[in-house]
Amino acid sequence: MTPRAPTEKVSMTTAPQIRKAACPGSFDPVTNGHLDIISRAAHLYDEVVVAVLINKSKSSMFTVAERIEMLTEVTADYGNVRVDAFHGLLVDYCRDNAIPVIVKGLRAVSDFDYELQMAQMNRGIGGVDTLFMPTNPEYSFLASSLVKEIATYGGDVTRLLPESVHKRLRSRLEERNAGQ
Ligand code: PNS
Repeated sequence: MTPRAPTEKVSMTTAPQIRKAACPGSFDPVTNGHLDIISRAAHLYDEVVVAVLINKSKSSMFTVAERIEMLTEVTADYGNVRVDAFHGLLVDYCRDNAIPVIVKGLRAVSDFDYELQMAQMNRGIGGVDTLFMPTNPEYSFLASSLVKEIATYGGDVTRLLPESVHKRLRSRLEERNAGQ
């Protein structure tokens, strides 16, 4: 009998497997760059779970519930995208939800070192693979942190965010300004 390669998965069932992937992140808030990756992942996989990290030690502009609401709104048309939150290790979340693959966008070479390290670690500790997708060049400079900073100082971020998210960002900034 030919031995199986160490990484070969043995299927215990003849039922068709649903191909699932996770798109993890902070999404504070979701940008057009995130949406580009999520929509491309949704074309490649049967089900995509957008997994929002609950990170109590990091201050955020939007609560996890608000981020989930925004993500649910902007992915509603895809049909095979579900939004969820997780805390702790991403590989534990993937194991508990039978998700074998993480999809990540790479904006530039500067993303690569850290993303490669995380991907190798996630493979090493949890056997979860990572698929890297080059970001659409239109969004290669885009980051939620920059969008928030630019908007805080009155810059125009209209083209960088889905319309509903842009509206929420504007009202959050108005609330903050009114509270000062
Ligand atoms: O949008 P972000 O903040 O760049 O996303 C980073 C995220 C959530 C993907 C990453 O921090 C993560 O997976 N955190 C969960 C904790 C974990 O698994 N850490 C070990 C990584 S090797």
